[in-house]
Amino acid sequence: MTNIIQPQFRTGPRCYLRPLDPRTDTERCYLWMNDPEVTRWLLRHTHIPYPAEASWVADVAKERPTTHHVFALVLREHDTHIGTVGVHDIDWLDRTGTSGWVIGAKEHWRNGYGFEAVMLLLRYAFTGLNLRKINSSAFAPNVGSNRIHEKCGYHEAGRRRLQFFRDGSYHDEVIWELFAEDHARVWEAHRPQFEQPHIDCAREP
Ligand SMILES: CC(C)(COP(=O)(O)OP(=O)(O)OC[C@H]1O[C@@H](n2cnc3c(N)ncnc32)[C@H](O)[C@@H]1OP(=O)(O)O)[C@@H](O)C(=O)NCCC(=O)NCCS
Repeated sequence: MTNIIQPQFRTGPRCYLRPLDPRTDTERCYLWMNDPEVTRWLLRHTHIPYPAEASWVADVAKERPTTHHVFALVLREHDTHIGTVGVHDIDWLDRTGTSGWVIGAKEHWRNGYGFEAVMLLLRYAFTGLNLRKINSSAFAPNVGSNRIHEKCGYHEAGRRRLQFFRDGSYHDEVIWELFAEDHARVWEAHRPQFEQPHIDCAREP
């Protein structure tokens, strides 16, 4: 589809976040969410029919979402959409939410994009949405995701032992929590790279 303007909602050194767009993104999300390598350590890990994925994308893309803020993760170079990140289950009284992230384009794993995207997401959650605390979890063998939690300032709050079954055996779930002030310290340390001037705010392909 041509002539669709895609905004850059939050921009980092190499990536940006923009709203998910059902017109352009559903098919990619559908393929990613049916790739067993991508979904290996996700809660949504069985096959997902196209209508179910389409309805998920349409739902998170609704105007003025109240309980979730979900974004497409895009590389600034060539505007390549490589994944999704989001804050879910927002409670406006407690000012809490639950973070989640998926880089579906496997060829882009291990380039630092996961860390950059989560930093952008958290900055938005704390300073844009005024949340106070973000909860999260990851399967213990998901080394990359657990490392992103550590690098972004989350603290391990405990483990649910042998919580999930994958690939023939049970695995621990690592429970993470992050307070705004802990993330603010991490953000300060990385501020120079995140606050470079960004030239373009919207592009027309
Ligand atoms: C987990 C995931 C988001 C990591 O994204 P990524 O862009 O590859 O991660 P980064 O390149 O930013 O790496 C962050 C850190 O984790 C490390 N890391 C990433 N993947 C790793 C792996 N497979 N093994 C060991 N270390 C890994 C990196 O070396 C880096 O640490 P460092 O800065 O100390 O060197 C990505 O693999 C993914 O989307 N997987 C499928 C979905 C998923 O598991 N989502 C998370 C559910 S909780």
